[in-house]
Amino acid sequence: MDTKIAIIGFGTVGSGVAEVFYKNRPAIERKAGARLDVKYIVDIKSLEGTPYAEKWTKDFQQVVDDPEVGVVVETIGGVMPAYDFSKRALRAGKHVVTSNKELVATHGAELLRIAEEHNVNYLFEASVGGGIPLIHPLYQCLGAGDITEVAGILNGTTNFIMTRMFEDQMSFEEALKLAQKNGYAEANPAADVEGKDACRKICILSSIVYGKHVYPDEVHTEGITKITLNDVQAASAAGYAVRLIGRVKKEKSGLIAMVSPALVAKSSQLGNVSDVFNAVLVRGSDLGDVLFYGRGAGKSPTASAVLSDVVDAVREGGHIPTLGWEDANHDTIGDYLDD
Ligand code: HSE
Repeated sequence: MDTKIAIIGFGTVGSGVAEVFYKNRPAIERKAGARLDVKYIVDIKSLEGTPYAEKWTKDFQQVVDDPEVGVVVETIGGVMPAYDFSKRALRAGKHVVTSNKELVATHGAELLRIAEEHNVNYLFEASVGGGIPLIHPLYQCLGAGDITEVAGILNGTTNFIMTRMFEDQMSFEEALKLAQKNGYAEANPAADVEGKDACRKICILSSIVYGKHVYPDEVHTEGITKITLNDVQAASAAGYAVRLIGRVKKEKSGLIAMVSPALVAKSSQLGNVSDVFNAVLVRGSDLGDVLFYGRGAGKSPTASAVLSDVVDAVREGGHIPTLGWEDANHDTIGDYLDD
């Protein structure tokens, strides 16, 4: 069986998906149990001069109308037009795979519902933790017990900045520039350094674990913009590293979710997570603690997670029914607990 893929948005992640796909195509097709090819790459900028020039179109409707396209990879980022394109693709019966945490964090419940109604998948493994398999394990492998806490380092850019400040005494600005050059940072890096990117990710994880949509404006969020080199050095002298931590925890009073810088012992697991790496601790009532660790940002790791979802969507040959969460109509977090 042949399935055609359309990639929409040809930035760092979109171009990484094309590169990793053509590099590893035989293995990807073997795992998918299907012949695959990229038929369209949709972007506002022409791909003239790239190996993908003949796949380029500006017209997303062409993708929607083409029955050969089975999977749409949305790597535009941001809410619009990604939200509109994703709905149109799902309603046309195409699987949608994305790395877009902002979209999943704000409209995930609705997009999952539309996917369900059209018997296709909306998959977003790459939206949290870059290349680390985290979403699937959370709702599949760890689905049996009560997850009481999820906490960790969810933003590669800020961790890279903190590490470079800590290890190389680099200034905040120098370290941020390097993170941008390495392709870790968001198009607007304010989302990284102000904690919004980590907030979106903790919302997605919370929504999966608790089965209801947790919205970004319900999560107390503080970034690393106020952390100075002096702070990092003082922390270090006392045996600590500064890390941006995202956390959601079940308390008697409700669900507590937050993102903020924290001191972690240099000798601890999180204190040893450096550069672009992410680490996420999942704590369960029956499970105990499980730690996920790996490259949390960057072109190839994120592309690899996107392509694992493409394989899943195609291999299943249809809808994977296990993931979804209710839209809580934007209730407060405290309302989620006692349901
Ligand atoms: N800007 C994000 C980060 C990219 O630095 O973690 C991966 O989601």
